[in-house]
Amino acid sequence: MKISFANLSVPKAGAIIVGVLEGRKLTASAEAVDKATSGAVMRAIKASSFKGSKNHSLTVMTPGGRVQRIVCVGLGKAKDVDALALQNLGGYIVKTLKAHVAVAQVLVDEIDGCDLKAHEMAAEMALGARLGSYSFNKYKTKKNDHSGDKLKEVKLLTKGSAKAKALYEPQDKVADGVFFTRDLVSEPANVLYPESLAAQAKSLAKLGIKVEVLGKAQMKRLGMGALLGVAQGSVNEPKLVVMQYTGKPKRKGSNPSKADAPVAFVGKGVTFDSGGISIKPSAGMEDMKWDMGGAGVVIGLMKALAGRKAKVNAVGVVGLVENMPSGSAQRPGDVVTSMSGQTIEVLNTDAEGRLVLADALHYTKDRFNPHTMIDLATLTGAIMVALGTHYAGLFSNDDELAWDLVNAGREVGERVWTLPLGPEYDKMINSDIADMQNIGDRWGGSITAAQFLKRFVGDTKWVHLDIAGVTWSKSGKPIAPKGGTGFGVRLLDQWVKHKLEKTA
Ligand code: BES
Ligand code: MN
Ligand code: ZN
Repeated sequence: MKISFANLSVPKAGAIIVGVLEGRKLTASAEAVDKATSGAVMRAIKASSFKGSKNHSLTVMTPGGRVQRIVCVGLGKAKDVDALALQNLGGYIVKTLKAHVAVAQVLVDEIDGCDLKAHEMAAEMALGARLGSYSFNKYKTKKNDHSGDKLKEVKLLTKGSAKAKALYEPQDKVADGVFFTRDLVSEPANVLYPESLAAQAKSLAKLGIKVEVLGKAQMKRLGMGALLGVAQGSVNEPKLVVMQYTGKPKRKGSNPSKADAPVAFVGKGVTFDSGGISIKPSAGMEDMKWDMGGAGVVIGLMKALAGRKAKVNAVGVVGLVENMPSGSAQRPGDVVTSMSGQTIEVLNTDAEGRLVLADALHYTKDRFNPHTMIDLATLTGAIMVALGTHYAGLFSNDDELAWDLVNAGREVGERVWTLPLGPEYDKMINSDIADMQNIGDRWGGSITAAQFLKRFVGDTKWVHLDIAGVTWSKSGKPIAPKGGTGFGVRLLDQWVKHKLEKTA
């Protein structure tokens, strides 16, 4: 779907979308359109129950004229019209019109009591429209299954359209990253396995990202016994993908190794999690195709950063494995030695994500000495018990970093909630025969998982995001249709933009 911008005027044909505020208060454009149709808009509103509330709309069909339909969308109260509300509105417009018209012309006006200028409003709506237009239909072979694909273009008509376009352009690149993540997360596990996921990551090379893929032999040489133990039951060989994006010019004079240290993003990439020998129940097991969601976000984020030419040095590392039961699979009770040298008693083969991340985190810290390390993982079912599906869980060894991410999440509507770490929880994963075991007891499962990861990050500033509850949406939202959400890409892009690029 195409997004375009043009200067504000009342179109003479096609489908027009105008805003109406709570209490049936017409925006300037709605009034202009009403006038041009001899009051048809207001007559229709008065005859209906439409009041201008959020997530409500009224379609006025105009048979005979060249304007086919006028869609009045509710804006709610002026003071509630903020960036997130406008993004949702953009998504809502797409959802409402996608099966009906080819081109949607959205008239955007300044609103009294709203802090944003018209061109800023248009850029936010454009982003929401783009994000809401996502669909994954490559495996549908019948045309009528694509009825939602009728909408080909959303045109935003606004004062200062050139400024709106310039504001939107980098966000369009971020949306490209979000779409890449959604695509990867949506692919079934027979198509997306470690090797094919690594091949997808390699496609980022055309954006100037350096991509390396480590195979099983290299990982063996590095001593990645924790990651390899998870992979050993599958016929699909594990891969470790390393992506490097250098967007910050080298500083002269200052100690180069310190000033140019990258930020690192690390992702859990379990392309299918059957549980292994500690096998999962069959109901819902298909969900475990998206157990590579953390890796998907890291790959999509690298695409977003490179796409919008962010002034940052970033490393992305994803550990890709398939967790399967077989004659060669890891057994409960096995002891493995991680790359860090620490030994792990694997009491439950279904607590595999932390084993993959243990080696990926240690490798990243060891090789790149990043100033900050952020990992993402669909790590525990327990995080859904704690937070449901509206917040991701955040764990960190640095309070300031944690709050910076909480704030970035609020700004983009990908919300995260802090959860505790502490020695009492750390103790729960001590093992009788090894340095640690990979599960705690029944309680605090997301915290003991995070404590486990903490043992592999040393004193690097670190955040762990447990995204198990937010990676896949069963119902869908205006800017994240049901399926893979891409949650995390916009959050981390925003954090990079505000906290790393501003101080550069
Ligand atoms: N990938 C799962 C966690 C998960 C569950 C993600 C549901 C998304 C939806 C993870 O590997 C897992 O199996 N965790 C276990 C840990 C347990 C064995 C300690 C869990 O949460 O049950
Ligand atoms: Mn598991
Ligand atoms: Zn898993």
